[in-house]
Formats: sequence, structure tokens, C-alpha cells
Amino acid sequence: MKESYTTELLQEDQLERAAELLKQGEIVSFPTETVYGLGACIFSPKACEKIFIAKGRPCDNPLIAHISHFAQVEQIAKNLPEDFFLLYEAFFPGPLTVVLEKTEAVPSIVSAGLQSIAFRMPSHPTALKLIELVGEPLVAPSANLSGRPSSTDYRHVEHDFQGKIAAIVQGTSSEIGIESTVISLLGNQPVILRPGHITKQQIEKVLGKEVDVAKMNEKHSGPVLSPGMKYRHYAPEAKVFLFRSLHEIKEHVEKSPSFTKRLILSSEPNSSIKDCAYFPLSAKTLYAALRQADAERASEVLVLLNEKTLHNLALMNRLIKAAENT
Ligand code: TXA
Ligand code: MG
Repeated sequence: MKESYTTELLQEDQLERAAELLKQGEIVSFPTETVYGLGACIFSPKACEKIFIAKGRPCDNPLIAHISHFAQVEQIAKNLPEDFFLLYEAFFPGPLTVVLEKTEAVPSIVSAGLQSIAFRMPSHPTALKLIELVGEPLVAPSANLSGRPSSTDYRHVEHDFQGKIAAIVQGTSSEIGIESTVISLLGNQPVILRPGHITKQQIEKVLGKEVDVAKMNEKHSGPVLSPGMKYRHYAPEAKVFLFRSLHEIKEHVEKSPSFTKRLILSSEPNSSIKDCAYFPLSAKTLYAALRQADAERASEVLVLLNEKTLHNLALMNRLIKAAENT
């Protein structure tokens, strides 16, 4: 692996160059509708290894694949159940990742030794076009340093990977802002491993049956369901605290030293706490806010949870993970 790169910043009309670099075994970040991905050719173990190194990702955390058309499903997954076809019809392309049995063709570095493969078809036209140009599925975990907030803007990718990867495709800010829903179809009953924009209710409606949701932070004694779930995630340098009311926030602020720099995240603007900067809270803006806290060297992020936020399973999942170990 090269020690350092002069990272090329590419426009969305320079995808031929991005595809060329990928085909040469380099890694390139590209926009998707959820978050930015860090892409490599799935059938090149060397390129995939570069992703683990660049992200500082533990090697037992598998990579997800991105496809652009149906024929690519059969290159990477086998024994497709009926449920898969229903989900494919309803949600592909889009923010749904399915876990199925992998084919022999998928290198074991991609699946981190598991016999399964997680994949989705992004709906972002740039991502789709790039996969088409390369002509094979691309692995692409979220384009952030392992354990840190994902990237929803190419500038976030630049911040984390400038000089460490071959190129970044500069798209617009991510439409959805949090990662895809991950659902495993390996067992008798589908299990949501990571909540996302596509909800349990939407999936159940399509499948005509109940689906399970893996408990957050579940410690498995048996085989690991989703290796990524056991790691700290989405966390800024600042400590993240979750509150149910403004009153609780005020109490917290009164108790701590006056020089503590804080950022308050709230879905409703509020200015009744002095000396605190406000940032709007939504799925789309969460990661930008957490990154902003670090850029401003805030030492605390105080999140005000209202009813709407509490009912957003995907957003709550990310907030709880960001607040873990605080
Ligand atoms: O929206 C997304 O999914 C974004 C964009 C770039 O597509 N990608 C993304 O990748 O979030 P990543 O690697 O940050 O998260 C994928 C999650 C991880 O928690 C990983 O452990 C899990 O999927 N995963 C990958 N392969 C798996 C497998 N074979 N079985 C179970 N979980 C798997
Ligand atoms: Mg990630």
C-alpha cells in the first residue's frame, strides 16, 4: 500500500477517471443517497484490504457490496429466498441492505470470514453509474474513520481521508443522511440488524409477516449476527449526552464547569440556555452536527429528545451509539 496519495477531487462528470482508478485496485469515495461510501472492486482482495487499512477497520467487520443491476446479485449471493425477491421489487434501488449466503467468488476478506454477504443497490445516480462503468460490484463501507461519524458531505471524506485514498467523487450532501437498513434473510425469520430509513413496518407490509429486530448492543455467546454492532460507532471526540427535557439540560449545564464548550442538538430551535450553540437535529443533519462539534472543539454535545425523535428508531440507534462510553 502506498504511504500517501495526492487525493484526486473528481466532479460527478469525471466518473471514467474514478472507474479507472478502481479498476487499477485503488479506493475511491463516492456519494450515495444514505452516506458517502469508500469504494473498491469486490473481486480484488488487495483493494479491499486497503479499505480496512484506510478506515482503521477491525478485520472481523465485513464490507457491504453495492450493485447496479440484478445480474450482479447472482455473482455474489446464492440460495435466494422468496423474501429477497419481494424486498428487491419493493426497495431496490434504495437504502435497504440484505444479508444472504455468499458465493465462492466473494473473497473472504470482504465477508470477514463469514459465509454471508451484505449488499444493496444504491439509488444515487452517480453511485449507480460508477458501478456500471467499473462493471462489477463495489464494496463500500461508510467513508469515515472506524468508530467516528459517517460522512454526508464530500468535505467530511476529505477531512478523514485526504492523502490516504486515490480519489473522492464530489457529489452533493447525502439526501438521507444515515446508513441503510440492514436485514438478514439467513434464518427462518428475517431480522433487522441495523435500523435505517426503511422501517420495520414498511418491510413487514411487503413480506406479509413479522420481522425481528436484533437488540442493540446484544452480546452474543453464539455466532456473531452482525459484527459491526459490537463496536463503538458514530462517536465524535466530544462527549454525547441525551436528555428528555430542557429542564434536564439546564440542570446538567448548572452542574458542570462554566468553561465547558457545548453544542445543543434539538429538532426545535431554543435559545433559553445561554452560551450554548444550537444545531438542528434530524437524520439528515446528525453526522454534520457531530462533526461540527469536533471542528469547534466542543467538549459536550447535549441532545434534546422530543417525541418525534424518540419514535425515529434509526436516528435513536445512532444517537444511543454515539452516546455510549460517554
Ligand atoms: O448506507 C449504507 O449502508 C452505507 C452506504 C455507503 O452504502 N454503507 C455502510 O457500510 O453503512 P458500513 O460498513 O459502515 O456498515 C455496514 C454494516 C456493518 O455494521 C457491518 O458489520 C454489517 O453491515 N455487515 C456487513 N456484512 C455483513 C454480513 N455478512 N452479515 C451481517 N452484517 C454485515
Ligand atoms: Mg459505518
